Amino acid sequence: MAMIPAEIIARKRDGLPLSEAAIADFVGGFTRGEIADYQMAALAMAIFLRGMDVGETVALTQQMLSSGDVLSWATDTPKVDKHSTGGLGDKTSLVLAPLLACCDLQVPMISGRALGITGGTLDKLEAIPGFRTDLTLAEIQSQTERLGCVMCGATAELAPADRKLYALRDVTATVESIPLITASILSKKLAESLDSLVLDVKFGSGAFMRDIGRARQLAETLVGVSRQMGVKSAALLTDMNQPLGRMVGNAVEVHEAVAVLQGDGPADVRELVCALGAELLVAERLAADRVAADSRLQTLLDNGQAYERFAGMVAAQHGRLPAVAAAAAHDVLAPHAGYVVSIDGRLLGQAVIQLGGGRKLMTDRVDPAVGLEMQVRLGQRVERGEPVVRMFARPGSASAVEALVRQAITVEPAATAESAAPPLIVDIIAADAGGSGFADVEESL
Ligand code: URA
Repeated sequence: MAMIPAEIIARKRDGLPLSEAAIADFVGGFTRGEIADYQMAALAMAIFLRGMDVGETVALTQQMLSSGDVLSWATDTPKVDKHSTGGLGDKTSLVLAPLLACCDLQVPMISGRALGITGGTLDKLEAIPGFRTDLTLAEIQSQTERLGCVMCGATAELAPADRKLYALRDVTATVESIPLITASILSKKLAESLDSLVLDVKFGSGAFMRDIGRARQLAETLVGVSRQMGVKSAALLTDMNQPLGRMVGNAVEVHEAVAVLQGDGPADVRELVCALGAELLVAERLAADRVAADSRLQTLLDNGQAYERFAGMVAAQHGRLPAVAAAAAHDVLAPHAGYVVSIDGRLLGQAVIQLGGGRKLMTDRVDPAVGLEMQVRLGQRVERGEPVVRMFARPGSASAVEALVRQAITVEPAATAESAAPPLIVDIIAADAGGSGFADVEESL
């Protein structure tokens, strides 16, 4: 007999753990519409305030995962994917999926849209004319096994409980809860029936979580829960106190990702792509260690194979390269000489939204042609009147956004310890599922 929803809410409200059966009843009832949104919202707030232990988080993830369909595979080729918690200028997915597909791996990469100030892979891909992101489950399965990779949105059949719960969390101030985030991310990713998953957990002003301590806790929870659910997993903890690469926007990020796929592009994007990919190659025993994995990935970027795979995926999804051209450029200039001591990612993200490159309302259309190009990095010396950011804007909108961009970049006469360029990859949190293939955490850091 199903438990009474208010009793389950009261237990969590009082700080007591929930049994697997209670979580199953609640999530099942919510998915079927038998438990009201206000009851789910109350439970989400109780979880937000009281937390969940790993066992409860595993049960919640499992129930959200089994609220819908999961992908099924005809071949044994390892299935792998990456999830990023989102950061300004993060275009690594566009490079990583085709790159891994060149390494005897298959990548069913189901992605999302822009969330808050951070961009979304689907919005970026839709800057390529004709590119279809709304594939069916059957199309996702067949393209992954035929071409080695697919990049598309979630279908209604995958983790429907997460779709409903996320909409409630968004409007009830319950997004920033580690167990809820973990169950949300993993219920969708594990519905891909993966062998290995790598997570890019970001912290800093251009990330969803500003604080490194919270980001580390999230990374450890994601890795621990994935492992308990039988999926090999590792997480990179990465700095987002400045955008990744130079470009922030949609089409401009596709152009930059294409440059990386062709063996060019910014060093930080390439470094992160290869570090994320290396975890998966080592996990799937396709490379002896991170160094060997990195070298294989670098070669595939330099010899054009990764780009060819990307172009094949785009064509299969009806896209016509190149992505649309950037809108007209307007430079924002340094007000005085000095050193770039901070870059406020939140303000830059807001600037992109104001230019039309993100959404203020869920129903807004994203303008693919607008965005920013960073001309400076943290710690860099600039002279008065030198460009610090190039804005790509529609006629009439640049001047209104310029103040926001100017405010985001702090130039001080003297360099400070904080302004020194921080390392991009701060730590790697790895775990071993059942003794198969993970590099030691301490190994190469
Ligand atoms: N991304 C998700 O998919 N879910 C969350 O809860 C937060 C970020």
